Amino acid sequence: MYLVNGEEVSKENFVAPVEDLVIWRGDGIFEAIRIHDGYLFALDKHIERFKSSAKKMYFDNINFSEIEKDLIKVASNYETGYVRVIIGRGASIEDFNVYIFHQEPVDFPDTYSLQSQKAHWMAGGDFSLEELDNIAAKTTSYAMNMNETRFAERNGFTDALLINREGIVLEGPSFSVGWIKNDEIFVPDLDLGILDSVTRKCLLEIADEGALKVSEARITISDLYDVDSVFILSTAKHAIFVEKVDSSKYSEDKLITEIKNSFKAKIEKEKS
Ligand SMILES: Cc1ncc(COP(=O)(O)O)c(C=O)c1O
Repeated sequence: MYLVNGEEVSKENFVAPVEDLVIWRGDGIFEAIRIHDGYLFALDKHIERFKSSAKKMYFDNINFSEIEKDLIKVASNYETGYVRVIIGRGASIEDFNVYIFHQEPVDFPDTYSLQSQKAHWMAGGDFSLEELDNIAAKTTSYAMNMNETRFAERNGFTDALLINREGIVLEGPSFSVGWIKNDEIFVPDLDLGILDSVTRKCLLEIADEGALKVSEARITISDLYDVDSVFILSTAKHAIFVEKVDSSKYSEDKLITEIKNSFKAKIEKEKS
């Protein structure tokens, strides 16, 4: 199902004009929400982040309650996959369009290998969220992230691991990361300018509820080589084990299974 500004259109008509700023400047924002057995998990958190991205990127007068209804409408036709929503700037500054569509489930590898690469375009801790309001928006300007994925793939890795100038671990080009050391789970802090990942947020919520112990921390890539286990997190990936970062190999910690199980329980709880 395809919607443009709330109107259902055919696949052939689900197009954005090349002259729109979202195409040639990447001037847009987006969200992807996963459908679990017909249910849109963590929809409220995605809407909250979408509102925040809209504010940061000066998309005014967006009717988020209509968007939320449209997301539910599209999702109600499917058991699995994702609903994606993009607000794209039109040909002029005041102009925008809202595109919503269903995406089929994507197959991911069971384990990942990551190649670390410096992300020169990310705040990486040089600016905090308090200092600069527009960092960490989920925008459609993803070319550099995709470039790092392609580079890592060409070198035989599943994907990239972005680090800052000093080698502090940030995130993946399209996922968050976490690590386990001495039976403790860690994720990088948001002042590094990483995306405020909904999945990372859910993991911290799971920790607050007492199911797991998770802390926010910073780690250099060389210290990451010595941890017990590494995993990635995203709407599409509720904790996938990373078997290798650069040339360092890990074994899968039992806590990764516990994270996966906690997510299953959280989804069931939210649904009921
Ligand atoms: C750069 C980046 N970091 C992290 C994530 C994970 O975010 P979420 O858990 O909200 O899917 C994504 C997801 O697309 C991403 O693109």
